[in-house]
Amino acid sequence: MLEIKDLTVEVEGKEIIRDLNLNIEEGEVHVLLGPNGCGKTTLLMTILGLPNYKVKKGRIAFKGVDITSLPTNKRVKLGMGMSFQHPPEIRGIKLGDMVNIARGRKEEEIDEDVIELARRLNISVDFLNRDVNLGFSGGEVKRSEILQLLAQSPDFIMFDEPDSGVDIENIELIGGIMSELLDRNKMPSKRKKAGLIITHSGFIMRYMKADRAHVMLEGRIACSGTPDEITKNVMENGFEKCVELCSKEVGTV
Ligand SMILES: Nc1ncnc2c1ncn2[C@@H]1O[C@H](COP(=O)(O)OP(=O)(O)OP(=O)(O)O)[C@@H](O)[C@H]1O
Ligand SMILES: [Mg+2]
Repeated sequence: MLEIKDLTVEVEGKEIIRDLNLNIEEGEVHVLLGPNGCGKTTLLMTILGLPNYKVKKGRIAFKGVDITSLPTNKRVKLGMGMSFQHPPEIRGIKLGDMVNIARGRKEEEIDEDVIELARRLNISVDFLNRDVNLGFSGGEVKRSEILQLLAQSPDFIMFDEPDSGVDIENIELIGGIMSELLDRNKMPSKRKKAGLIITHSGFIMRYMKADRAHVMLEGRIACSGTPDEITKNVMENGFEKCVELCSKEVGTV
């Protein structure tokens, strides 16, 4: 589904990602852990193709297509979606209109289907009539992002800290919907979607099972393993020590 080879990325003239390699197969969900500022969000923005993120070296292929120079709208048309860590507030566009756009609908009315999708995320009709993210609380912003993804239903979904700032009951709710969006309720052989999830707390992993986890340090994937072994190692030893231990055990650096 996604193949990243020797990727080096600059933002505002500063090298943030260095020689990064990552493969995600159809049906797989990967988790990305790493300290603040190591480049996790930068990696996701680069995969999505936002203009500030300059690929200096390497390539990104999605569904077998080289997308390294493709604009964001074309990547999204190919089946990519993202829930942002800090999405912008958009004055003048209602959340309900955004959901209609994500569903590929032209109508101006917010219909029963949209209201039903929103209800599943504990989002009331009032929110659908408000400007996107304007004055939304931290947890409401996260649910508004997931609602737009639910409407878009992409094949490959990136979640940038879907659990940060979300209360415990809503984490369970979001985890359930992420599982559905990523085909986790189906047998492994029937899963067609894939995902990449950034999390600090790992809370979301209680409700959303992943196949593989990676630790990112200074713009590189420094070690990889099963989500259980990597999260346990990071919680017990911290990022740097985890990478040392992990490279000895698995030899993946
Ligand atoms: N527009 C920019 N101009 C200058 N530096 C930037 C810009 N965008 C990102 N950076 C820098 O790139 C580095 C990586 O940022 P990034 O947002 O990818 O980190 P992160 O791993 O997602 O961290 P966090 O866990 O805090 O979200 C940081 O040092 C950040 O300040
Ligand atoms: Mg980030």
